[in-house]
Amino acid sequence: MSNNSGDRRSRLYRKPHCVAAAVRRIHGVVADNLDNSSAVAIKRVQELAGEFGKNSFRQVDLRDRSALEKFFSEIKFDAVIHFAGLKAVVMASHGCKNLVFSSSATVYGWPKEVPCTEETPLAAVNPYGRTKLFIEEICRGVHRSDPEWKIILLRYFNPVGAHPSGHIGEDPRGIPNNLMPFVQQVAVGRRPALTVFGNDYSTKDGTGVRDYIHVVDLADGHIAALRKLSDPNSTAVIGCEVYNLGTGKGTSVLEMVTAFEKASGKKIPIVAGRRPGDAESCMLQKGGAGIELEGKYGIEEMCRDQWNWASKNPYGYGSPESN
Ligand code: UFG
Repeated sequence: MSNNSGDRRSRLYRKPHCVAAAVRRIHGVVADNLDNSSAVAIKRVQELAGEFGKNSFRQVDLRDRSALEKFFSEIKFDAVIHFAGLKAVVMASHGCKNLVFSSSATVYGWPKEVPCTEETPLAAVNPYGRTKLFIEEICRGVHRSDPEWKIILLRYFNPVGAHPSGHIGEDPRGIPNNLMPFVQQVAVGRRPALTVFGNDYSTKDGTGVRDYIHVVDLADGHIAALRKLSDPNSTAVIGCEVYNLGTGKGTSVLEMVTAFEKASGKKIPIVAGRRPGDAESCMLQKGGAGIELEGKYGIEEMCRDQWNWASKNPYGYGSPESN
């Protein structure tokens, strides 16, 4: 698990939840250069993991080959969850050829038809999407060139919510780009109003529809993927496979705001706006390829846990001065 890729949101948000699940449940060890992540988040993850949290973190930069060699020599890994780049060469030379890569539903671009399946045509509509497509392609190439590699590409839909403890959650730097971090900052009084990007789409109430998944369910999806890769009793032949990670339920911006208001007891003022190039609807087809994951949480729990985190940590891992 490491941290040299370009998506700041995943570094600061999705990753701690996945790492917390991996450290506590399968005794994972984290490598991160802390370049653009928070040492406080690491500390909290270790606390959440109790006994297993001890000795579960190494500050390693993936570009430091000898440090990475040392890391892989000290600990025998069965598999790696990949949040970054620059991995495969060192992994293979240490005999670890099981990989879970965190991709994104953004690889479907603006899907012409929803719900999406893993077969929906791929399209990059922004640089972030292009990097995900490109790394997916590299993974397929790695498997083609050495079929001993077993790789699962997880395409996330929209992760929201936070760890139910309220210890780790979403903490974007600067003005949040995404819906729920913006909503949470309005709720704690850091921003006056949410700009709703579009109310004239052909959706249930005119606002954009997405497939929101609780970040804890998303983390469970990673553990399920690792288990699938490592299951000695499995007869399934795993090559380089794709799984969508979402719930199959579409929720509009206004539905999300209403659910958050209910969970928090706070009024979220809204104003109208538009974000160029926004997709109208994006959600997955339930019962697609389906990793063994039946999401535990719905919108209510997502908003409950997002608010629990935000109210306990109105300035995320920082302080009013650092924001
Ligand atoms: N929205 C607003 N106001 C805001 C922010 C968002 O109305 O301030 C609306 C958007 O128009 C959209 C919905 O809320 O209808 C969700 O928007 P997000 O920005 O939270 O999520 P997106 O689905 O647009 O994009 C995100 C990431 C992508 C990723 C994708 C799928 O930004 O990088 O989820 O995982 F690819």
